Amino acid sequence: MIPRGEIEQIVAGYPAEPRIAAVGSHSALDIAEGAASEGFRTLVLAEQGRETTYSRYFRSVRDPAGQRIRGCVDEVWTYPRFSEVAAPDAQARLRDAAALLVPNRALSSYLSSDAIERDLRVPIVGSRALLRIEERSERENYYTLLEAAGIPAPAAVPSPAEIDGLVIVKLPHAEKRLERGFFTAASRSEFERKRAGLLARGVIAEADLASARIERYVIGPVFNFNFFFSPLAARSDGLELLGVDERRESSLDGLVRLPAPQQLELPEAARIPDYTVVGHASLTVRESILEEVFRIGERFVDAARARYPPGILGAFTLQTCLDRDGKPTVFDVAARIGGGTNIHLSVGHPYGNALWGEPMSTGRRIAREVRTALQMGRLNEVVT
Ligand SMILES: Nc1ncnc2c1ncn2[C@@H]1O[C@H](COP(=O)(O)OP(=O)(O)O)[C@@H](O)[C@H]1O
Ligand SMILES: [Mg+2]
Repeated sequence: MIPRGEIEQIVAGYPAEPRIAAVGSHSALDIAEGAASEGFRTLVLAEQGRETTYSRYFRSVRDPAGQRIRGCVDEVWTYPRFSEVAAPDAQARLRDAAALLVPNRALSSYLSSDAIERDLRVPIVGSRALLRIEERSERENYYTLLEAAGIPAPAAVPSPAEIDGLVIVKLPHAEKRLERGFFTAASRSEFERKRAGLLARGVIAEADLASARIERYVIGPVFNFNFFFSPLAARSDGLELLGVDERRESSLDGLVRLPAPQQLELPEAARIPDYTVVGHASLTVRESILEEVFRIGERFVDAARARYPPGILGAFTLQTCLDRDGKPTVFDVAARIGGGTNIHLSVGHPYGNALWGEPMSTGRRIAREVRTALQMGRLNEVVT
C-alpha cells in the first residue's frame, strides 16, 4: 500500500485549486457535474473511442471570467488503453495537473487492486484500501467485512450439491469479463442443466465456475442505498443517506415485462436472463425502514474503519434486497461512489436535498467535502 504520508505530501504540494478527475465511465458525469457545481475544474480520463460523451456532449463552455455557461467536463485526456493511466509519465501528468481522482467502478475495473494499492501515486478521494473488498475472489472481501459488521448478507452455499432452495450463482461472463455470467437455480439438477446450457453458449467458463460464489437468493426488491460518510464531521454527524437507486438489467427486466405465457414460448436460451446493467431508477423507502438502513450504514462505517483504517472516506453504497419485514440483506457493496448515482445527477435526491436544503447529488457531496476540507486545511484527511 502506498503510504498515506506520501499522498499527503503530494496534496500538500498542490495549488489552492486542485482539479477533480474521474475515469470516463460509470458515474463520471455525476462526479464532474458535482465538482463543477462546487466551482472545481474537471478532468475525465477516457479510453480512446469512448470519450465523446465527455469531450463533446458534456464539454464545459465557460465565459472569459471562467463562469460555466454549459457542460461540466473541462478537459478529457484519452489513453489507448485505460490501464495506461497508471504508467509513470501519465501519473506525473495527473499530479502536475493537481488531480484528485474520485474512484468509480471503472477505475477499479480497469486497474488491478495491486496497481491501485502499489503503483498509482495520484491522490484518491476516498479509501484506496477498501476498493479491493469488491473482488469476490479475494479471501478478505465485502462478505467478510459484512460479517464482521454484523450486517445480514445472503448465506453462502458451499457447493452445488447443497442447493436446497433458490440460489444465485455469481461468476463473470466468459468473454465480456467485466459483465456478469450470473444465473439462478433452485436445485442441483436445475444448476447442472443451466450450467451446461450456459457453458455451451459460451456465456460462462468452466474455470470461473470453480470459484463462483453460490449464495441464497433473497426474494424482495432491490434497494441500493447511496450513503456518504464524512471524516470531517463529528462521528455522530458523519453518516448521510443521499439517495436510493435500483437497476435496470438486460435481459432480466425485459423478460419480466412479458406475460408468463409469452415467456414460456421463448426458446430455452432466451429464458435465462442476463444481468447486464443498462440503467437505473430512483426510489425512496418506507419511512419506518429508514432507521434500520441507517443502522447498517453506521455498522459498516465502524467495521470498515476497524479493519481497513482510515475506513470509509466519503461515498459508499450498500446494495440490498428488502424482505417483507423491511429488513435489508446486503448482497453487494461499493466502497466508493455507486453505479446508480446518475439518478440524482444535478437535481439531487429527496434525501440528500432534505438534508442539505439544496440539490445534493453524490457527485456534488463529494466535491463539497473536498471544498470543505480545503477551507479547513484538512484535505489530507479525505484522500488516500
Ligand atoms: N443474493 C441475492 N439475492 C437476490 N438477488 C441478487 C442477489 N445477489 C445479487 N442479486 C441480483 O443480481 C444483481 C447483481 O448482483 P451484484 O452482487 O451486485 O453483482 P455485481 O458485483 O456484478 O454488481 C443485483 O442487482 C441483484 O438484482
Ligand atoms: Mg453490484
